[in-house]
Amino acid sequence: MQPSVIKLTRMTEAHTEAPTHYPPSAAFAATANATAEIYDRAEADRLGFWAEQAKRLSWATPFTEVLDWSEAPFAKWFADGTLNVAYNCVDRHVEAGNGDRVAIHWEGEPVGDARDITYAQLKDDVSRAANALTALGLSAGDRVAIYMPMVPEAIVAMLACARLGVMHSVVFAGFSATALGARVEDAAAKLVITTDGQYRRGQAASLKTAVDEAVANQPSVEHVLVVKRTGIDVDWTPGRDLWWHETVEQASPEHTPEAFDAEQPLFLLYTSGTTGKPKGIVHTSGGFLTQASYSHHNVFDIKADDVYWCTADIGWVTGHTYIVYGPLSNGVTQVVYEGTPTSPNEHRHFDIIEKYGVTIYYTAPTLIRTFMKLGRQIPEAHDLSSLRLLGSVGEPINPEAWRWYRDHIGAGTAPIVDTWWQTETGAIMISPLPGVTAAKPGSAMTPLPGISAKIVDDNGVELVPGADEAEHVTGYLVLDKPWPSMLRGIWGDDERFKDTYWSRFAEQGWYFAGDGARYDADGNIWVLGRIDDVMNISGHRISTAEVESALVGHSGVAEAAVVGATDATTGQAICAFVILKESAHGGSDNIVDELRAQVSTEISPIAKPREIHIVPELPKTRSGKIMRRLLRDVAEGRDLGDTSTLVDPSVFEAIRASK
Ligand code: PRX
Repeated sequence: MQPSVIKLTRMTEAHTEAPTHYPPSAAFAATANATAEIYDRAEADRLGFWAEQAKRLSWATPFTEVLDWSEAPFAKWFADGTLNVAYNCVDRHVEAGNGDRVAIHWEGEPVGDARDITYAQLKDDVSRAANALTALGLSAGDRVAIYMPMVPEAIVAMLACARLGVMHSVVFAGFSATALGARVEDAAAKLVITTDGQYRRGQAASLKTAVDEAVANQPSVEHVLVVKRTGIDVDWTPGRDLWWHETVEQASPEHTPEAFDAEQPLFLLYTSGTTGKPKGIVHTSGGFLTQASYSHHNVFDIKADDVYWCTADIGWVTGHTYIVYGPLSNGVTQVVYEGTPTSPNEHRHFDIIEKYGVTIYYTAPTLIRTFMKLGRQIPEAHDLSSLRLLGSVGEPINPEAWRWYRDHIGAGTAPIVDTWWQTETGAIMISPLPGVTAAKPGSAMTPLPGISAKIVDDNGVELVPGADEAEHVTGYLVLDKPWPSMLRGIWGDDERFKDTYWSRFAEQGWYFAGDGARYDADGNIWVLGRIDDVMNISGHRISTAEVESALVGHSGVAEAAVVGATDATTGQAICAFVILKESAHGGSDNIVDELRAQVSTEISPIAKPREIHIVPELPKTRSGKIMRRLLRDVAEGRDLGDTSTLVDPSVFEAIRASK
């Protein structure tokens, strides 16, 4: 049972001053794609509105039914329509005479290593890859794991899968071999596509080694397809391993796309839940692409001459929806950057904005806060006048960072769209419309036209806007109506799907997002963060249970408890409390280093705890449940809340002593 009043602390000064509105300029509003009128239209006829948005796409067979919710929570959108997702993202732009338009300005991490790819070239590349995948025996419904850095071939691979009705499961290349292996196994992937190595801050590091380790005992994997990126040495398993340049690049660039049902599964994307086992979130074709295209067009106000840049990695949902499917379905020109923002130095992003004349820049609050720390002299050293719209995603953006972003990157004029959504929602759900909304720094504002969200209390009663402001009461953020890009399930686990998202408000039939939120007096939504055991580290979603399970995998560890503590740069930071086994005799001198390495190997370096405290005991309730709330208080240096339900309140003295 969740507490009826959820206490969430928001970073810095969110509540301290009355929020200021930032309306769009008259000039921006005058040419904006979205006007206020679409809210009314969607409100008057929601399904009719979505049917209209679906016509942004090219359908091989037009649909006659918009939504089938008869088997809720398993939705079907546009079910009797057929389409090919890759055709919509590539071929139709070539057919419309835009084959010479640059689809991707690709910027490699090594300075000077860049490539422009037109829509016509992309069509040839995707067709070659589709032919090569077919030759390897892949057909509609199969799964392919993609474990690659941000190279154009990763996008080509995703689109080739989409073209064939094959599901891709992109695994972030920062994940470890163990994490990759678990995802390959769960999906029973037949093919893994990877690179020999990847550039990490100027150094070539092996990537295929992790694949070799991950697939060693995976009978489902028939082939490993390898793009040569760094030229680093690789081990080779003849028969299983194939070079991309010897297969894909030799294949025919002619390929006729087949139309699939709108509900054909498009991809699987694993994300952290409240247990140690990642969930394979399933997305399908027609509804997903409709909302990806619609939201991208309206939230980012995309025009034919824009140069759009989303800085996410294709390993996360933002890369799926707002690098691959949204932008390409809309035929835009975009920048794709391979490396880190600090390679070779912290000017890199601004160099790229200047080089390509980027007009729309979509990034994460954690990066903005990093730029703030580095100082405004860095953006000031560049001509950023091409930028006309800025976006934020992945975690709450604190008003101070919002204002800094607008003033020092957006010349004090660019609208900012703070976009709330999740892997599960598939596309943006709550966001300002840049030519309409008078945005408030720190608020994602209101649901997009066609979307319905509410903030409710324990009993499902909607909070009254403004009424909670003084007390900072937080409610549960729910989505009370189905939406086209909603997840269709968890791979192979319908029960977990129902239980995780639909059981909290089962009576009402609402989706519970896992986030706490509040309304301000104007009814705008302020998302405050997760209220389950999921952490948000630099916008990366990691569950406490995953990290705990990695820690107890170390032979010296008896028990571990992990919490996310507020961090000024990364939003949250991982703090672990560990009890060692008696046999470990207090652990070796470098036990903390060993444990950090263990987490890195089991999950990823991004999941390494900022702090690990070796403690004699953990605070538990009489029923044996670890009291994470109290550990969070300790980690954040706060006074302890109610400890009366603890078996042994004195345990805190010991924990504090070890900090
Ligand atoms: O807690 C919310 C936070 O990120 C979670 C979703 O994480 P993930 O599935 O990895 O997708 C991230 C990219 C869409 C949400 O439950 N979150 C995402 N965007 C925002 C946010 N929190 C506040 N404001 C946002 N704009």
